Amino acid sequence: MANILEVQDLSMYYITKSTTVRAVEDVTFSIAEGETFGLVGESGCGKSTAARALVRLLPESGKIVGGSVLYKDKNVVSMTEHEVRALRGREIGMIFQDPMTSLNPVTTVRKQFFESLKRDKNMTKAAMEERSIELLRLVGIPEPAARLDNYVHELSGGMRQRVMIAIALASQPRLLLADEPTTALDVTIQDQVICLLNDLREQLGMSILLVTHDLGVVNEMCHHVAVMYAGRIVEIADTRNPLHHPRHPYTKGLINSLPAEHDTRSRLEPINGAPPNLSREIIGCPFAPRCPHTTETCRTQLPRTVMVDEGHFVSCHLVTEAACAADSAQKQGGAQ
Ligand SMILES: Nc1ncnc2c1ncn2[C@@H]1O[C@H](COP(=O)(O)OP(=O)(O)OP(=O)(O)O)[C@@H](O)[C@H]1O
Ligand SMILES: [Mg+2]
Repeated sequence: MANILEVQDLSMYYITKSTTVRAVEDVTFSIAEGETFGLVGESGCGKSTAARALVRLLPESGKIVGGSVLYKDKNVVSMTEHEVRALRGREIGMIFQDPMTSLNPVTTVRKQFFESLKRDKNMTKAAMEERSIELLRLVGIPEPAARLDNYVHELSGGMRQRVMIAIALASQPRLLLADEPTTALDVTIQDQVICLLNDLREQLGMSILLVTHDLGVVNEMCHHVAVMYAGRIVEIADTRNPLHHPRHPYTKGLINSLPAEHDTRSRLEPINGAPPNLSREIIGCPFAPRCPHTTETCRTQLPRTVMVDEGHFVSCHLVTEAACAADSAQKQGGAQ
């Protein structure tokens, strides 16, 4: 399947006079057409920054310092501001954890739909009204016509989230960036929103980048997953691999920290220690201070990324050494 997005060696820093926060460092991944791609990792590892960097939706201090983001073979990093804005409006939709930050509190739901739909110059007001109702219905809002007159604060949390998704879909994006779209919701509504996103992806044939720290959701919904740690991707593969055959000690730690399903007595086993401060230079593997298998090499050298299986990439010295040992054993075997 063709890729809709190809991110290569992307680095994004928050640079001020006093500090440089290396929020995204040398990140490489691609999203295929029609797939859901998960981005997971602990709080502060750079997930939101990476998602926003893809469409250059960054604060003043946020600078892309290297790499490229190819959307349908065009580099977003070198686009003009005008081109990126058009991309955000039409091709790439965005939904965020807190709908209040992306919905406008002082205009009605109708106006927010029209704002997005009026980009299609051929659309009459009646057609826009009809399309808005259709989108609200698509996301499962009861009495959609009546909701158009509402202001955002008049809606419940679950409704707001759905309205935000419907508005994001108004421009028929080919790629949806969904940054923790369900965290603010209660569990039953979380499930509904996740199912809804999955259905919409299938119906509309779009791709989704799903930022989450919920590995259960990744397991259910994603085709590929990238595990981020301290601004870097440490493991990436289709969901069968990192979740069921994790190779990076951090991914293993994340999975171990999940409560076993149906076992109410099981305890979370958090990974010891805390992630590094991204405003300090990191020498060696960023996970070394917390890793149970750390060696001298880990403390002094950044691991390179190796492919351990078809499409399964890991950045860990132990994995690299094991792969090299297996490789040379195979060569020796072949030479005999
Ligand atoms: N505007 C900013 N200025 C400076 N540093 C920032 C800014 N926004 C985020 N950061 C820092 O960048 C790093 C990555 O933050 P980011 O919000 O991308 O993480 P995240 O993985 O999305 O976390 P969470 O799971 O909590 O949403 C963190 O160290 C954070 O403190
Ligand atoms: Mg975030």
